Amino acid sequence: MTGPDAATRRPGPGRAHLITGIAELVTCDGPANSTPEERLGILRDVAVVVTDGRISWLGAASDAPACDSQADLEGRCVTPGFVDSHSHLVFAGDRSAEFSARMTGVPYDGGGIGVSMAATRAASDETLRRLVAARVAEMRSQGTTTVEIKSGYGLSVLDEARSLRLAHEVTPETTFLGAHVVPPEHRGDRTAYLDLVVGEMLQACRPWARWVDVFCEPHSPYAFTAEESRRVLSAGIAAGLLPRVHGNQLGPGPGVQLAVEVGAASVDHCTYLSDADIDALAGSATVATLLPGVEFSTRSPYPDARRLLAAGVSVAIATDCNPGTCYSSSMPFMIALAVAAMRMSPAEALLAATVGGARALRRSDIGRVYVGGPADLAVLDAPNHQHLAYRAGVPLARAL
Ligand code: NIG
Ligand code: FE
Repeated sequence: MTGPDAATRRPGPGRAHLITGIAELVTCDGPANSTPEERLGILRDVAVVVTDGRISWLGAASDAPACDSQADLEGRCVTPGFVDSHSHLVFAGDRSAEFSARMTGVPYDGGGIGVSMAATRAASDETLRRLVAARVAEMRSQGTTTVEIKSGYGLSVLDEARSLRLAHEVTPETTFLGAHVVPPEHRGDRTAYLDLVVGEMLQACRPWARWVDVFCEPHSPYAFTAEESRRVLSAGIAAGLLPRVHGNQLGPGPGVQLAVEVGAASVDHCTYLSDADIDALAGSATVATLLPGVEFSTRSPYPDARRLLAAGVSVAIATDCNPGTCYSSSMPFMIALAVAAMRMSPAEALLAATVGGARALRRSDIGRVYVGGPADLAVLDAPNHQHLAYRAGVPLARAL
């Protein structure tokens, strides 16, 4: 994930940059199979050296080596940069009126995706590039250092490929979501649209995508059934993409079971889960990615995070930043919602926003702080990580 301030934390090739004044370093690299608090791996009185964008030294502040440059954080908390494993940043247009209507009782059904699609198709490459860059910068300014970005507002061969090409300019975590909804010109013939998605569109998007996703949601007339979703995921896998699923968002449904069946890295939303869904997730390597900003912005019931955690399911939280169900780019806000509305502890929420998101992207190199790892760090204007939830809505976090 590249941003305008990325260069400022790298003093130059081969040059070592010392970070001191860290009140609490949350590594998220504590022992597995321990309590969430222990898994946070909190270190105190430590300093960190960054060389060429990687952590080259970490140890007692009193033992810190001489370096080429230095930053004193004056008693702030440092955490791994947040891993936002679910976003839809490539879109143009405005749907604030849809949000207002929803707040006065109009239910969400996915129909507004067509509005964003029309505006996105009409936008120039330069406009879309500028919009994506602004949203990525907004995320970095709130502590996010890795973002996954989906297509899904193009819904034609050229517009989906363009969305992914632009997303790929800012992150390697790009997801082909041609099966977001059936676009208006294909409403009379869903099968013809699916043929296009698994054929020409997939081929055009494949060079720019790591992942394939589908909006598996029988409760939306615009989205896809289990059978249709299985077809899309199978074609994506055959083309070399890795699967992930939007599932169980608007009501109980087949998304979770399908995600587990195809070995998806993650099933996202999980707002409505049955006992069988939880059992399936618990026996799998599929992460349940919770998107509490969606429940907040659609006035829906929150997912049962406690049941998932009690069953031993891997849980991530992400923003789902998109123009319809949650136009928030703020991982700290998601952490605060996870704690206040989903009853996760501050430790569980921070783990879900870092190593949890990394696991949802099948990445073991990010989401934690360790020697040799990328210097993807968030600094908080606070002495400890609990302030993320405690001081909800206060802009404490930024990517270092
Ligand atoms: O993740 N569920 C489908 N897609 C998005 C919403 C897209 C939109 O309404 O524009 C989501 O919630
Ligand atoms: Fe989404």
